[in-house]
Amino acid sequence: MKEAMASAAAAVNAEMDRLLPMVDGPESRLFEAMRYSTLAGGKRLRPFLVTSTARIFGVSPSSAIRVAASVEMLHTYSLIHDDLPAMDDDDLRRGMPTCHRKFDEATAILAGDALLTRAFEILAEPETHADPAVRCELVLLLGRASGAHGMVGGQMFDLAAKDEEMDMHAVTRLQQMKTGRLIGYSCEAGAVLGKAPRQARAHVQAYAHDLGLAFQIVDDLLDVEGDAAEMGKAAGKDADAGKATFVSLLGVERARAQASMLVDQAVSRLESFDEKADLLRDVAKFVLERRN
Ligand code: IPE
Ligand code: IPE
Ligand code: MG
Ligand code: MG
Ligand code: MG
Repeated sequence: MKEAMASAAAAVNAEMDRLLPMVDGPESRLFEAMRYSTLAGGKRLRPFLVTSTARIFGVSPSSAIRVAASVEMLHTYSLIHDDLPAMDDDDLRRGMPTCHRKFDEATAILAGDALLTRAFEILAEPETHADPAVRCELVLLLGRASGAHGMVGGQMFDLAAKDEEMDMHAVTRLQQMKTGRLIGYSCEAGAVLGKAPRQARAHVQAYAHDLGLAFQIVDDLLDVEGDAAEMGKAAGKDADAGKATFVSLLGVERARAQASMLVDQAVSRLESFDEKADLLRDVAKFVLERRN
């Protein structure tokens, strides 16, 4: 599993490097910042979900890797903006100074903007898939998952999420928007690329739904229990901010049990797939056991 993830990460890094070439001129600082944040560490989970799902449906690796690179760029934009002083005000990300610390706030905002835009541009480029309808559907799904009804809406919700005012229903909705939707998209994209039958696509969606929630519960657990050096980002931020999370509502033990239950449930959604889905089965376990 580790090897599979490492080799997928190397492939997506090479693709992003290719898709984000440096330029000369007064705007070169923008490209430096985009490359700095994107080519830094990171688990590359979303790209791995794209390529692993794509494999099940026999998608050509060259298509899958472009879609994988695109979603990682969009994810990186969300992290750059999440770290800004106006939001979580963080200094460390992926083991390095955050983009606005390394460069400056204006550059970090623009680097995020440009990565977001590039993500959609890549999807629309003919090299991504021969069928324009497939490209168009990817653009549509990524827009839905990452926009005001998805990730960005979730980020707005998160800023307002005071611990004392939230219940499990509200936190689940928040996390589903903030994190779950993009993870859902990552899995669904592999199915869209492979023109998967409706039923198979529904199984993938159900898997991704459970996995996304488990992933965010673990993120909340790591914020409490994790080691900042190992994670490459600050710990203890959520409690300091009085943020409502699965852990603040359930406590550590029950949150962990909930994540574990969700991971089992996610794996059970893959029953109808053969061993081609083993990477998805394994990555679900990784999500639960991860330390960063
Ligand atoms: C962190 O995402 C932000 C959340 C959505 C919880 P990851 O934990 O996937 O961050 P990287 O990409 O590995 O740095
Ligand atoms: C960030 O959530 C989610 C997005 C960027 C969409 P967090 O604020 O919990 O992520 P970390 O803990 O800083 O990585
Ligand atoms: Mg945040
Ligand atoms: Mg944050
Ligand atoms: Mg967090």
